[in-house]
Order: sequence, then C-alpha cells, then structure tokens
Amino acid sequence: MPQRLRPIVEVFPAPPKDIDPQQLDMTRIPRHVAIIMDGNGRWAKSRGLERAAGHEAGVASVREAIRVCNDLGIRFLTIYAFSTENWNRPQGEVDALMEMFAETMAVELPGLEEECARVNLIGNIGELPMRTRDTFEHSIEETEGNDGLTLTMAVNYGGRHELVDAMRLLAREVADGDRTWDSIDAETISGALYAPGMPDPDLLIRTSGEQRISNFMIWETAYSEFYVTETLWPDFDRYELLRALIDYQGRDRRFGRV
Ligand code: IPE
Ligand code: IPE
Ligand code: MG
Repeated sequence: MPQRLRPIVEVFPAPPKDIDPQQLDMTRIPRHVAIIMDGNGRWAKSRGLERAAGHEAGVASVREAIRVCNDLGIRFLTIYAFSTENWNRPQGEVDALMEMFAETMAVELPGLEEECARVNLIGNIGELPMRTRDTFEHSIEETEGNDGLTLTMAVNYGGRHELVDAMRLLAREVADGDRTWDSIDAETISGALYAPGMPDPDLLIRTSGEQRISNFMIWETAYSEFYVTETLWPDFDRYELLRALIDYQGRDRRFGRV
C-alpha cells in the first residue's frame, strides 16, 4: 500500500499561536529525518518518577513522530533508541528498556502496518535479549512489502561499531580476493554500513538541549543539518517537529559550495 499524504491543516489542527503550519513548504520536505531522542530520564525526574516512566512516556512521542512524518511524505525516519554505550546504565533500566522495546513493538505493529510503514533496524541485533530480538525481526519481516515511510530503529547501535563492522566486511572481501584495496571509496563504505541504500539524513534532531552526536550515525551525518531543542523527548509533539522542519527549510545547505 502506498504512502498517503494528508493536508497540512489536518496534520497540524491546533497550532500554538507563534507557529503557522502553512509556512511549511511541502515541495521541500526532507527525505530523511533522524532523531536522537533524549531527556526521558530528566522528564521523569522532574515529576518525581522512575526513569523507566520517562521511557514509557516517550513512546507516545515516537508514535506521533512516525505518523506525522508519514503524513508529510518524509520517506525515512531514523530514531536512536539504545546506544552501544547505554549498556553501561543500571541493569534495572536496561532490562526495563529491552522489555519495553519488545512490548511496544508488538503493540504498535498493527498501527505501523496501517501506516504502510516499513520497519528496519540498525545496530547489533544479535546481542539483544531473545524476546526483544524476535519481536524486532518479526516486525521487519511483516512490514517488508510496505512502501510508506521506512522507520529505522537504532538499537544497540554505535556509529564507531558500524564503521568497524563495515571495515571488517571490506577487509574480508579484499583478503578473499573479491575486491582490490584501491576499489574502496566513500560510496563503497556507505554501501557496507548497516542500512546500505538508505540516503543520509537531511535533518538530525536532538531533544533535551544536548549538543553532541553521542556516537550516532557519524559517517551518515557528515552533511546533515543539526537541530537541537531544549524540549525533552516525552514533550516532543507534532508542533515541535513542525518547528524543526520549518527551521530546516530556512537553512542554506551549501555542501562546501559558495
Ligand atoms: C533517552 O533519554 C533515552 C535513551 C537513551 C534510551 P535518557 O534516558 O538519556 O534521558 P536523560 O538524558 O537521562 O534525561
Ligand atoms: C544518546 O543518548 C542515545 C540515545 C538517545 C539512545 P544518551 O543520553 O545515551 O547520550 P549521552 O550519554 O548524554 O551522550
Ligand atoms: Mg540522555
């Protein structure tokens, strides 16, 4: 089933006073939006709740972002859900997250099917607990034929690890005599990453005010536009996304040119 676009007024029915959805230029919608979803812990802390409650609250923001991106015709949405460094958190939080991923994926799958979204995963899936791994793999298989938005979840993902894996893959091809060392160029490396064929992100959003990349898509974001908002992830709604998109459309992407 094809991706269906919805009119801007339907996607943004009740905008805050300071923002006009009509400012959004539908002819210049980014192809790929990537999000570092941050601030769940601080959101929970500010309410006197456990960190896990912040992660639970963040699920609604994910659902909304997927729907809005799909409605606007954004082809790729990539969300950073768990980094290779996040294993260093307290075991209880890691377990709660892994459990939540499995549960949420299972619950959200019918909705994703309805959206015609395709689920993809970047990161080392093999190291995830069995149930989490199984639900992700199931969702990937079930949505394979859909041609709406591609939702890529970065789970147990690290940008450096992705590059290490790519280098190993190419090194093996050279060792096996399947390619020559000097045939390796930037395109070859892009093609050896976890999601070959996916265009680089046009817009990279990070919530909660942190101005760092935290090992996220370090190769792919070489020319992405970076948008940081103080808003914590559970508070990031469609109007926050609209702000980011309008800001992005005001940028002058020069790619080194004048
Ligand atoms: C982002 O929120 C979610 C994950 C990293 C899984 P955090 O849990 O990092 O929230 P803060 O940064 O501690 O507020
Ligand atoms: C980045 O957030 C990872 C995810 C959003 C999944 P972190 O909260 O782990 O990043 P740092 O530790 O603040 O850099
Ligand atoms: Mg954080």
